[in-house]
Amino acid sequence: METTTTTALEYFGFIITWFIIIRIIIIKWLWQLLKYLWIFYLQNPQKHYQKYFQLSTSSSTTSASSTKSNGWSIITGGTDGIGLAYCKQLARFGYRLFIISRSIDKLESIRSELYEQYPQCPEIRIFQFDFSENFESINYDRLEIEIEKLSKINILINNVGISYHTTEYFTKILQQEPKFNEKIINVNIVSVLRLTLICLPKMIEQQQQQGIIINISSLSAICPMPLLSSYSASKACIDHFTQCLQLELQQQQEKYQPQIHLQSILPGFIATKMSKMLPSLTVPTANNYVQLSLLSIGHTNRTFVYFFHCLHNQLYQFFHYFSFINFYQIIAFKQMLKLRQKYLQKRKQQKQKIQ
Ligand SMILES: NC(=O)c1ccc[n+]([C@@H]2O[C@H](COP(=O)([O-])OP(=O)(O)OC[C@H]3O[C@@H](n4cnc5c(N)ncnc54)[C@H](OP(=O)(O)O)[C@@H]3O)[C@@H](O)[C@H]2O)c1
Repeated sequence: METTTTTALEYFGFIITWFIIIRIIIIKWLWQLLKYLWIFYLQNPQKHYQKYFQLSTSSSTTSASSTKSNGWSIITGGTDGIGLAYCKQLARFGYRLFIISRSIDKLESIRSELYEQYPQCPEIRIFQFDFSENFESINYDRLEIEIEKLSKINILINNVGISYHTTEYFTKILQQEPKFNEKIINVNIVSVLRLTLICLPKMIEQQQQQGIIINISSLSAICPMPLLSSYSASKACIDHFTQCLQLELQQQQEKYQPQIHLQSILPGFIATKMSKMLPSLTVPTANNYVQLSLLSIGHTNRTFVYFFHCLHNQLYQFFHYFSFINFYQIIAFKQMLKLRQKYLQKRKQQKQKIQ
């Protein structure tokens, strides 16, 4: 009789514990959802821009007077895709731009385009730099000398990044491009560390009211992407680096006044040359994505920004923690294999055409 009561009590306790755990998870999930809706859809964008980008309240397309207080924004890989979208937004806000990219022709044409589209942008400087080749200190010294000439650095966008031409097994990728591993490390990781090392002390030194550093990581940093393994790992490195630096800054910021907002942005697929995808419900344009992402400054240190990218992460987390069979990984692998097969087929057809 006693053992039956004990077993019943244990059973009851087990159910109650799970009931509480599930309720906590649901409450946490609902809280995250509400926070997401507030940041990206419910808050007043004008007030937000005024607070974090020192804009006048009168209009979103800023008057020239608001540019006086604004310093420089440094954007790596700013001639295309996400980087270019950041350049456009910051030019619209009246910041001075320092754009670093590989091709001088593209840099010059983007500069003219931005001057034409955003007359409120007072100055744009361009700097040609190939991050895949330049990893030694001596090369970065050249870049540092140019950055030294900027009066005040407000914003650093560590955006530059490269990925695979197509999804591929790690052991086969070097057959296509022998120096691929070095390149991906130099562009995706070294560039972020070096630029942060150059700019962060200056931002702190300048005693400005607030500074912003945005590091572009990827959804693949959280949800491992097979057949994009070294890319996925490089982005995990950037996400982790950003989180560690945030902790250092938090501790340091208690000692000095200026506030540096450091953010890790984790996009899923975005319609750019890198992804080779067209815009759709789950794949936003770079402009839409960046517009949304700027609303999150000051509210969160780490974000996926786009709703479907958040959902992707939630599904991954769900299968990772609550399912014995990780369906997510099975589906992800199948999708990546499909992309690889498609690419190989296309390449075969192209070769046949040439012959
Ligand atoms: N698109 C996506 O789906 C996606 C998803 C997650 C994360 N991301 C991340 O978002 C960032 C931007 O991606 P994106 O899609 O906008 O790329 P993108 O359209 O290919 O643009 C890349 C930019 O970087 C520059 N660049 C490339 N290699 C360089 C090098 N070695 N040295 C200097 N500049 C170089 C390019 O300039 P040139 O044209 O002159 O080479 C271009 O301005 C990357 O860090 C990427 O990993 C993208």
